[in-house]
Amino acid sequence: MDLYLLKFPYRKILEPIARRLEWLDPDALSYAAVGAAAATGWCFYRAADRPALLVWAVLLTLLRMTLNTLDGVIAIRRGNLSLRGEIVNALPDRYSDLLVVAGVALSPLCRGWLGLAALCSMVLVSYTGMLGRALGVSWQHHGPLGKVERLIILMVFALIQFVTLRGGSRAAWFGIEATPMEWAMGLFVLLGQVTVARRLGGQLREIDRKEALERLDPARNAGEAIVVYDSATGNTRAVAEEIARGLGCAATPVSEAGAAAGYGLVVLGSPNIRKSPSEGMRRFQAGAAARPKRVAVFATFGMPVWGQLSAPACLRGMARAWGMKPCARFSCPGLHRKYKTYRGRPNEADLARAFSFGLGLSRLIGRGKQ
Ligand SMILES: Cc1cc2nc3c(=O)[nH]c(=O)nc-3n(C[C@H](O)[C@H](O)[C@H](O)COP(=O)(O)O)c2cc1C
Repeated sequence: MDLYLLKFPYRKILEPIARRLEWLDPDALSYAAVGAAAATGWCFYRAADRPALLVWAVLLTLLRMTLNTLDGVIAIRRGNLSLRGEIVNALPDRYSDLLVVAGVALSPLCRGWLGLAALCSMVLVSYTGMLGRALGVSWQHHGPLGKVERLIILMVFALIQFVTLRGGSRAAWFGIEATPMEWAMGLFVLLGQVTVARRLGGQLREIDRKEALERLDPARNAGEAIVVYDSATGNTRAVAEEIARGLGCAATPVSEAGAAAGYGLVVLGSPNIRKSPSEGMRRFQAGAAARPKRVAVFATFGMPVWGQLSAPACLRGMARAWGMKPCARFSCPGLHRKYKTYRGRPNEADLARAFSFGLGLSRLIGRGKQ
């Protein structure tokens, strides 16, 4: 899920308020968000006796989300983006998470051991995210338990808990006797560990990329493979260049690409244009007199959810144009110039995935030669 993308429309909604509050120090809003989180934790802690506090917990969570978004928007407007600002942005947020989950963990609504496990899982999620920075690669943000997901899970289950408490019964779902808040904590544990694994995977890919770039000849497959791409706004080009780096060959735009037949492997890349390859790619493929031995395909897409679902059709379009079965496929998000979705993508993590894809292809060619 790309729930973090909700941040961008929410920022737009808050723009007029940010304009009026520009005189405010964004750090003050970050600290106010910790206050909102402490109050949320208290509401959860006392909610077993007073169910209405759960509704307050949801409202305070919304307030915290708003303050956290506003501080960023104001900082950007004031040109206040700094390393100090990053500390004030990150550390109080960790305190806030701890205060909220501690409130749930210590309340009668949750078994203590489960609350503790959720707390640890959440800390490990943040820790592995930042570990990348310490290792000299990027800050890892992906995984199913990002901040937005955490807050949404808390709000949804708090509302279910409110309804259940008012009804006077304990929920037993899937044969497990547990309160909704215990289900929420269970999700924190499970999704948290999936997130840890995905963030570690992202870091390892970036580390592999760094090491491979130092060790491998950048033109080791120059005569054997080529990456041919079409790109209007640069996303597909960035991915193509990274695949070419991993593969050890050149990346060429369709407008400059010559005959493809002389290569053992041609990697074709296009933006996803309404489920199809771009016009330029289609023209290039139609004009190619002969086919290479192997083809691999990749695409970038700009629409959340729909882009991911329709990318396979775009990839199939390229493979079918040459009547070939691709030996590998890759797709990745890229900023949509018109709708401004997927800002900052492809990012470092995407490029590391693209590099791994290229590296995998180079191993494939190596195996083919033996
Ligand atoms: C005319 C047009 C149609 C598009 N259609 C889709 C689409 O159907 N699904 C999608 O996910 N992205 C769509 N996009 C977004 C692009 O696929 C995406 O932003 C891509 O990364 C752009 O690559 P480029 O920077 O290499 O040109 C479309 C973009 C344009 C300009």
